[in-house]
Amino acid sequence: MILIGVLLLGAAVAIAASMLHGGLSAKATPTRLEAVLARNARHLAIPGNARLTQNPVLDSPEGQREARLHFADHCAICHGNNGSGDTPIGNGLYPKPPDLRKPQTQELSDGELFWIIENGVRFTGMPAFSSNGNHTSANHGNGQDSWKLVHFIRHLPYLTSTERLEMERYNPKGPEERAEEEEENEFLNEATPKAKSESQVHKRK
Ligand code: HEC
Repeated sequence: MILIGVLLLGAAVAIAASMLHGGLSAKATPTRLEAVLARNARHLAIPGNARLTQNPVLDSPEGQREARLHFADHCAICHGNNGSGDTPIGNGLYPKPPDLRKPQTQELSDGELFWIIENGVRFTGMPAFSSNGNHTSANHGNGQDSWKLVHFIRHLPYLTSTERLEMERYNPKGPEERAEEEEENEFLNEATPKAKSESQVHKRK
């Protein structure tokens, strides 16, 4: 009994030390032990039937484009347009968003990816995006947006530079970038009045 008690205490101390390192600063990176425990806990917390759900939305170029721009607007601030997670906000989170292109994420089932997008991950920066969450499009109600995002996550390892450049135009912008863009537009407007109205129509889409 005493031996078991000592072993349990040792394990508790190891886990606590593994989680409390770095003075609880979010700049630290989780230890391997903590990452493995958290990943397994998350896996177990996702209901089995949710993990096995198949993607009901067909993959299509239109769906991909919609999800790509949606990702640029809602997700890239943490995950980056390319899914690397190497962004100022992503790097400041604990745990940091993983590289979505890597096997660790790609090996999750469609149902598991969907569940994570809809419900978020508690104790992390990953928000829930279900209907009462942050998605805004009209067809969100039945999770369509999230299923399209699952297709897009599968495509991330093969993202082309043209797609990435398109996404950059849809990333949320700060006041400085906006002002700069307006100046550019004004300049273009003076040069060729027609070209401006066309480029503006294009942008509103
Ligand atoms: C505020 C920052 C933030 C935003 C915005 C965000 N995420 Fe995340 N995301 C995270 C963090 C942090 C994790 C890591 C969670 C963990 O360790 O369990 C994560 C994890 C994930 C995962 C699981 C990957 C894995 O292998 O564990 C998926 C899938 C994901 N996010 C998709 C999205 C999508 C799609 C959006 C936009 C609709 C989004 N995220 C928006 C921070 C964010």
